[in-house]
Amino acid sequence: MPKPVNVGLIGAGRIGSFHGETVARRLVDADLIAIADPAPNAAANLADKLDVESAYTDVADLLAHPGLEAVIIATPARFHTNVLVQAAEAGKAIFCEKPMALTLEDADRAIAAARSAGVPLQVGFNRRWDQAFAEGRAAIDAGKVGTPQLLRSLTRDPGPFGADPARIPLWTIFYETLIHDFDTLLWLNPGAQPVEVSAVADALVRPDFRENGFLDTAVVTVRFDNGSVAVAEANFSALYGYDIRGEVFGSGGMVTMGDVRRSSMTLFDKNGLSNDTWRRDTDHFVQGYTAQLASFVRASRTCKVEGPTGEDARNALKIALACIESVSKKQAIPLR
Ligand SMILES: NC(=O)c1ccc[n+]([C@@H]2O[C@H](COP(=O)([O-])OP(=O)(O)OC[C@H]3O[C@@H](n4cnc5c(N)ncnc54)[C@H](O)[C@@H]3O)[C@@H](O)[C@H]2O)c1
Repeated sequence: MPKPVNVGLIGAGRIGSFHGETVARRLVDADLIAIADPAPNAAANLADKLDVESAYTDVADLLAHPGLEAVIIATPARFHTNVLVQAAEAGKAIFCEKPMALTLEDADRAIAAARSAGVPLQVGFNRRWDQAFAEGRAAIDAGKVGTPQLLRSLTRDPGPFGADPARIPLWTIFYETLIHDFDTLLWLNPGAQPVEVSAVADALVRPDFRENGFLDTAVVTVRFDNGSVAVAEANFSALYGYDIRGEVFGSGGMVTMGDVRRSSMTLFDKNGLSNDTWRRDTDHFVQGYTAQLASFVRASRTCKVEGPTGEDARNALKIALACIESVSKKQAIPLR
């Protein structure tokens, strides 16, 4: 057994805490040795909980921690690129949560920084690691659905929606939610290039915030150069659970992926039959999140990224940016 990879966590919020726990408790070949978060006590509290030796409020201090080999970046999206560049310059292997960047210039800057430092860069499109999605892609690769013609990917976050819309950055539905679906659609249509994007979006969950530019519901169509057409959709408040699905229909058949039911246990009683549903991403995707970080740990050793790369993050971002333009101009946007 090789020596465990020494990992640092940057950002100890909701998903960072979960990723930290994955490294500390669910992976055998990695050690979580340091955590950084500027919020008072955020890093220290998580470090206490996970028995991690060092907590910092400054990212530079974490990057200087002796023996640190790899970092997980789980800060809010607007900080990703700068922190990523800083970590690359410090020579660390990088796992960055999505979106890696909010502009193409920043995406290029991130990719260039990792390349010139010679460090692996993997991005947090965790659906690729979910067993159903991975098997769907394997079936497509094996030619079992023929040539893809219609693709579908959807994200319905669990309701009731309880966040304060005023604290959610503009265009989050594209930058942070549907970006997963864009990566999934690109990945499930291997070799095809997106050529046109059209999006509609609205505030249907919180119409009282529509005037502020808040959007909680969106439908996107993406046309590809192999003739196939994809639809992505999102809504922030599915009252029945956390509903993530994908579908690829082709000349030879169809694959469907994702199930909102927690398990195959079905209750039959006087009301009929019923199932429990997933309520949180960190429950639904434990296997996928763990597999993606196991892969990152391997990449930290081999410098070979098996999962989504900086270029993949850029490709998904390009669609998100086209969606924003499409909603703003109310027209389809050709991709160059
Ligand atoms: N892949 C997924 O399924 C998934 C799920 C949830 C969130 N995310 C992504 O992860 C990122 C974080 O989301 P979250 O819900 O955990 O947010 P959060 O607000 O709960 O946590 C962010 C944390 O980062 C800290 N922080 C802020 N600036 C920092 C900096 N410069 N350096 C270090 N730490 C900093 C904050 O104090 C906070 O503790 C977002 O980009 C989000 O889109 C991905």
